[in-house]
Amino acid sequence: MISSNSVIFYIGGQKMLEGDTVRLREYHKEDIPIVWEYINDPEIKKALIPGIPFPWKLEEEEKWYEEQNAKGDLYNFAIERKADGKYIGGCGVNNVDWKNSVATVGIFLGKEFLSQGHGTDAMKVLVKFVFDQMNIRKVVLHVFSFNKRAIRSYEKVGFKVEGTLRGQIFRDGKYHDEVIMGIFSENLN
Ligand SMILES: CC(C)(COP(=O)(O)OP(=O)(O)OC[C@H]1O[C@@H](n2cnc3c(N)ncnc32)[C@H](O)[C@@H]1OP(=O)(O)O)[C@@H](O)C(=O)NCCC(=O)NCCS
Repeated sequence: MISSNSVIFYIGGQKMLEGDTVRLREYHKEDIPIVWEYINDPEIKKALIPGIPFPWKLEEEEKWYEEQNAKGDLYNFAIERKADGKYIGGCGVNNVDWKNSVATVGIFLGKEFLSQGHGTDAMKVLVKFVFDQMNIRKVVLHVFSFNKRAIRSYEKVGFKVEGTLRGQIFRDGKYHDEVIMGIFSENLN
């Protein structure tokens, strides 16, 4: 279960959500050069879904930042490590199907912060936010089959594999499967 301190609270008017080791907050302009650095690492980029131009330019990040306020129901959170307030990655709600009450989410961390439990913690907070604040019934995500760390992390949150798009994605000279995972609120660990 998410610890009882996982709540939305406000500091200086800023909306934040808190987990055990990380908090989710709004993006700040100072995060932009850092997100650019994190996302342009080949190991991270390889795991992210298509549509992101390579290499992602800093100017594109800045445009993305300016567009955040206009996004309505879509949310992009910066992930901040609680121990030192460091910006370590991002996560968010990429798509909402209100009719069927299904939201699609995504997440990434900078390479130096992988496999320390922060991604699982952040995803738990994000999914809880979607269920409790957006009144959404189901959360789904897409992950490439070679990304075993991400699949394991999502399983720890409570996601289950729902289906596989065979040979959907071309990476490093080969086609790979794309796995679709989903979670209902009663499955959230
Ligand atoms: C996916 C991501 C958010 C997960 O967050 P994380 O903080 O790294 O994950 P956690 O440390 O919470 O958990 C990782 C789990 O995978 C396991 N793991 C790590 N490498 C693994 C591997 N090669 N094979 C199988 N399991 C692996 C870890 O042991 C851990 O499981 P455990 O707690 O049972 O030991 C993060 O790794 C990330 O941002 N990756 C790069 C970008 C990315 O893949 N984004 C997602 C695209 S769908």
